[in-house]
Amino acid sequence: MLYRHFVIILVFAVFLVHCAEWRYHNNTDLELFLKNFNQSTKSGIATKLYSIGKSRKGNDLWVLQLTATKKRKTGIPNIKLIGTIHGNEPVGREIILHFMEFLRDGYGSDPVVTWLLDNTRIHFLPNMNPDGFALSHENMCDGEHVRNNGLGGKDLNRNFPDFYHKNRIPEEPETKAVKKWLEDVPFILSAALHGGAMVVNYPFDTVKESTSDMENPPSLTPDHDVFVHLAQVYSQNHPTMHKGDSCSDSKFEGGIVNGAVWYPIIGGMQDYNYAFHGCMELTLEISCCKYPAASELPKLWQDNKMALLKYCLEALRGVTGQILDSTSRKPIAKATLRVSGKNMTFSSSKTGEFWRLLLPGNYKLEVSAEGYYNQVVSFVVKKYETNPKLTSLKILMLNSSISTTSSTTPKQRTTGTTVKFTRSITDGAPITVSSAGVIPSEDHQPPTPASLITPLEKSSSTVHQNYIFYVSLVIFLLL
Ligand SMILES: *[C@@H]1O[C@H](CO)[C@@H](O)[C@H](O)[C@H]1NC(C)=O
Ligand SMILES: *[C@@H]1O[C@H](CO)[C@@H](O)[C@H](O)[C@H]1NC(C)=O
Ligand SMILES: *[C@@H]1O[C@H](CO)[C@@H](O)[C@H](O)[C@H]1NC(C)=O
Ligand SMILES: *[C@@H]1O[C@H](CO)[C@@H](O)[C@H](O)[C@H]1NC(C)=O
Repeated sequence: MLYRHFVIILVFAVFLVHCAEWRYHNNTDLELFLKNFNQSTKSGIATKLYSIGKSRKGNDLWVLQLTATKKRKTGIPNIKLIGTIHGNEPVGREIILHFMEFLRDGYGSDPVVTWLLDNTRIHFLPNMNPDGFALSHENMCDGEHVRNNGLGGKDLNRNFPDFYHKNRIPEEPETKAVKKWLEDVPFILSAALHGGAMVVNYPFDTVKESTSDMENPPSLTPDHDVFVHLAQVYSQNHPTMHKGDSCSDSKFEGGIVNGAVWYPIIGGMQDYNYAFHGCMELTLEISCCKYPAASELPKLWQDNKMALLKYCLEALRGVTGQILDSTSRKPIAKATLRVSGKNMTFSSSKTGEFWRLLLPGNYKLEVSAEGYYNQVVSFVVKKYETNPKLTSLKILMLNSSISTTSSTTPKQRTTGTTVKFTRSITDGAPITVSSAGVIPSEDHQPPTPASLITPLEKSSSTVHQNYIFYVSLVIFLLL
């Protein structure tokens, strides 16, 4: 009898704790949550809490960084997840908090979580727009008026420099903070979580000029293959998004859409990430209602958990490397890089490192840096079913004031990598590799994106478990 009472009380307690978790954290509570999380230690995991700046009203924009990588190791990709860019779309802020806990708690026991944290650094900004959030209300499903950063504020997702147009809207403090953040950390993969639809939106959002008769012609990037793949990884690992018709008024084939096809915008954050910083960012629309009742959060979390995990893992598919001076071995920052066939340049970081997400295949990387001979490096991105790994290169640049006709012979370094020094004929222009034998003649042929997507995990089983839990609770209470 005593035992039975104990079980009932225990179940009740678990139920209450369970409930308390599922609410929207106001700005004060969210800061507290992050500070507590930062203090909660777990063997192998390192947390760091930092503010990237302040909102219009002076609220800190807190970022929690989570990793299990070694501090000084090179080649670690940085990922970021952003919530509440629109004040009235706060589902993402709560999903991010639960995702942080899920990663911390799963480290060491869940092999996918462990691999992810052992090989990446994840930065969470759950509250990019605290001022707008403070003005919004639960159960407000539609409307635009408090998406901005406070009264008289701006839509932050129209506030960034644009790839094709001049953005005349003055930059808000939140925008400036995110821009600075992107300068400080060489992010490679990112997602901004929104609400009001169920779809993954990929760049470009901006359109060069409309020469088409179509209402909203696509505006695609040179990395379209990668963006479609990333978008599909998310939608296919979500139990309903990939069906494309989750909300009443919209249809999206496969649950993904090019931003410009949906509706073109100027000054969007994802385009800025990609075109100005080489960071691939997607806009994740994860709930039909922008600000649903807190009671809907458990299901929203279950629906997005696996999709987020698989999405983050994509930061480990592609190439990384470090660019060094061949004599001094000093890192070369701000070298200009380009994957042959993809007309979009990116740069090496302060530490001479670079990252680029790519589908499996054979590639060539064109590297140029002031004062050095241009180089073309060929490499392979392998296909991994589980535990993906970035191809790692070390690229030694030869000072262009040193003559190549001397005895300097190119040296072979990283396995599977061919590095050749060549004299550039025209300054800055990409050059071809002199020895044809070392370059695979075929251009890369990425496998069909569908074959790369890991099938949806049985997230329905968790729903099922919850169901069993509630049924057992009722049975216990009846006893
Ligand atoms: C935030 O929520 C907590 C309860 O969780 C409450 O005590 C506090 O007053 C709220 N703060 C503001 C500024 O609304
Ligand atoms: C985060 O935790 C570390 C370790 O406990 C501590 O040194 C640091 O001050 C904390 N950061 C913030 C912003 O609270
Ligand atoms: C490559 O991109 C630049 C800058 O966007 C553009 O001016 C140029 O026309 C592009 N070249 C090709 C071949 O698409
Ligand atoms: C290249 O070598 C020359 C002569 O040693 C030196 O003055 C110059 O700074 C070097 N360039 C770079 C980019 O290191």
